[in-house]
Amino acid sequence: MNLTQIIAPSVLNANFLELGKNLQAIEQGGAELIHLDIMDGHFVPNISFGPTIAQNIKKGTSLPLDCHLMISNPENYVEAFAKAGAHYICIHAETTNHLDRLLHRIEELGCIPAVSINPATPIESIRHSLDIVQMVLIMSVNPGFGGQKLIPYTLDKIKNLRDQKPELNIQIDGGIKLDNIQEAQNAGANIFVVGSAIFESPDPQATCQKFVEKIKNPSSID
Ligand code: DX5
Ligand code: ZN
Repeated sequence: MNLTQIIAPSVLNANFLELGKNLQAIEQGGAELIHLDIMDGHFVPNISFGPTIAQNIKKGTSLPLDCHLMISNPENYVEAFAKAGAHYICIHAETTNHLDRLLHRIEELGCIPAVSINPATPIESIRHSLDIVQMVLIMSVNPGFGGQKLIPYTLDKIKNLRDQKPELNIQIDGGIKLDNIQEAQNAGANIFVVGSAIFESPDPQATCQKFVEKIKNPSSID
């Protein structure tokens, strides 16, 4: 099965004073999805931004938006993110008692439902959602902050999931760098969220391009 290999930059650690410029840079650098980290200071110990900023980002890019909701009570917010122009809406399995209902609701709103799990949450917890979602996000760090180190055992979860579902889009999020992205790809991930490695580099466009080359041509050198 040949799944599309995609770089999804997370703007969490981008300089928001230059957001328009940053969006252009990653678009020109070959990114195919923009990952928006939505944090509420409750499910995760950090606060980022909400649907209004997502809507502005939508206006500043032609790339689809991937909204990763790290928030409690996601039921109350999916409609706002759908209205803001989300393509994917990804919710954490840990945040709702009614995962099945919420994934279908996202679909009804015209978005693509996706589900995420924290490093310590077993993949068994989303087994029954695998036929509903079109993407699973395996967190490779504890959610809340950019710039953390990838937790190695999360790659085993990806391998396991890939064996179960060869056709599933598996996204990895957290601690992805130029020197470990191929390991994540070998484990079976095909959508790669990259935050600080792109936006804290001196040239986000060139760095994004390097990530794209790495995944499209796995034998390429830095
Ligand atoms: C963590 C977020 C990630 C993260 C990615 O809670 O979901 O998207 O910011 O950033 P890096 O690549 O810096 O780990
Ligand atoms: Zn994320």
